[in-house]
Amino acid sequence: MEKFEINGGKKLFGEVEISGSKNAVLPIMAASILAEGKSIIHNVPRLEDVFTMIKILTYLGANVKFDNQTLEIDSSGINKFDAPYEFVKTMRASISFLGPLIAKFKKAEFSLPGGCVIGSRPIDLHIKGLQELGADIKISDGYIVADAENGLKGRYIFLGGNFGSSVLATCNLMCAAVFAQGETIIEFAACEPEVIDLALYLSAMGAKISGIGSPYLKIEGVKTLKSVEWTVIPDRIETGTFILAGAITSGKIKVKKCQPYHLGAFLEKITACGITCEKGKDYIEVSGKSFWQATDIVTLPYPGFPTDLQAQMMAFLCLADGVSVVTEKIFPERFIHVSELNRLGANIILNGATAIIRGVKKFYGAKVMASDLRASAALVLAGLMAEGKTEVSRIYHLRRGYENFEKKLQNLGAEIITGKE
Ligand code: UD1
Repeated sequence: MEKFEINGGKKLFGEVEISGSKNAVLPIMAASILAEGKSIIHNVPRLEDVFTMIKILTYLGANVKFDNQTLEIDSSGINKFDAPYEFVKTMRASISFLGPLIAKFKKAEFSLPGGCVIGSRPIDLHIKGLQELGADIKISDGYIVADAENGLKGRYIFLGGNFGSSVLATCNLMCAAVFAQGETIIEFAACEPEVIDLALYLSAMGAKISGIGSPYLKIEGVKTLKSVEWTVIPDRIETGTFILAGAITSGKIKVKKCQPYHLGAFLEKITACGITCEKGKDYIEVSGKSFWQATDIVTLPYPGFPTDLQAQMMAFLCLADGVSVVTEKIFPERFIHVSELNRLGANIILNGATAIIRGVKKFYGAKVMASDLRASAALVLAGLMAEGKTEVSRIYHLRRGYENFEKKLQNLGAEIITGKE
């Protein structure tokens, strides 16, 4: 297994280009099976999750080419409608195929996704919505077996759960509804930029969707969708991670090819800590300080503070002056990184879904273990500023969601190398 070895204490300077958004491209890849002909998708990051989606598409019978950052998907050969556990266990986003398969082929058989280290990940909202559209859904031998022999019918679907809406359930239901007969309304739809990107992609293909970007989506069923060329939005979580890399190392980084307006809540908090972020049309330049203030954050659905930046922000707040309180409202158990950050010298106490962080002067290098994708990034950020050497093991988690992470950091002046465990 791969690990990172980091010699901490180097200020990071320079420019970094942000890759395409992981969470946007995954449902877009699944949605491409709705189109007739070849779909071309640009700005696709070369990530493990993307390769898993390619494996599923190929397994289903699609012909996929991936050259540089461009994917070509021809789904005319699809002749299978199931996804075995071996695919679903590595990546929950494979559930994104459910809606498109039911819409186009009127059936799907998917292994139920298991638990996940960031907490329980139910799929009740996906199932409820598909049932309301008329799919017959049974759970059998660990599989969701969906059948919509008579086609789907447009309906009103209320998608709110205890934690707000669901990103991938909104994506699945939008895809399911594009061929449903009549009008579908999704109330309490997720409004994340990645959901908007999918809605715009479907619209470019010929879907009739209104209310895009709002929690009230209206979808008028159509008969067919055409294939199109699409460019995926920049990854806002990678953007936030590199801004934090500049801030935590007291460096200065110009983060290019990003979309600043996707990061409003995050930038407000960074600014509240005393860090300067200059925004341009497609860049953010962060100028770090040697000293920054504590602040409180609460993770919320978009446009609130993203849960996918909670761990990385926490690493930064560990070195702030004062006490910060971090409350996780999306995945209340998403705190596995806390014990590892404490091993590096942080002072964090957990109380349910709230972490209390008393700022310390420095991190001290140690061996730590990555537990999930974003927690891995948090440990790397801490390692960048730790005194001495930090080893982060199990970085395969990181490969799922950060393209060329160590190379991009090396170009900014970080001393980070890959080793074997
Ligand atoms: C997506 C993102 C993930 C991000 C998350 C929240 C992708 C590939 N992944 O995951 O990176 O952390 O949004 O922004 O886009 N829930 C239910 N029932 C359901 C579905 C969800 O109760 O049927 C709950 C979840 O447990 C969680 C909350 O709703 O508490 C939000 O989860 P959801 O938006 O569905 O996350 P994902 O779409 O899986």
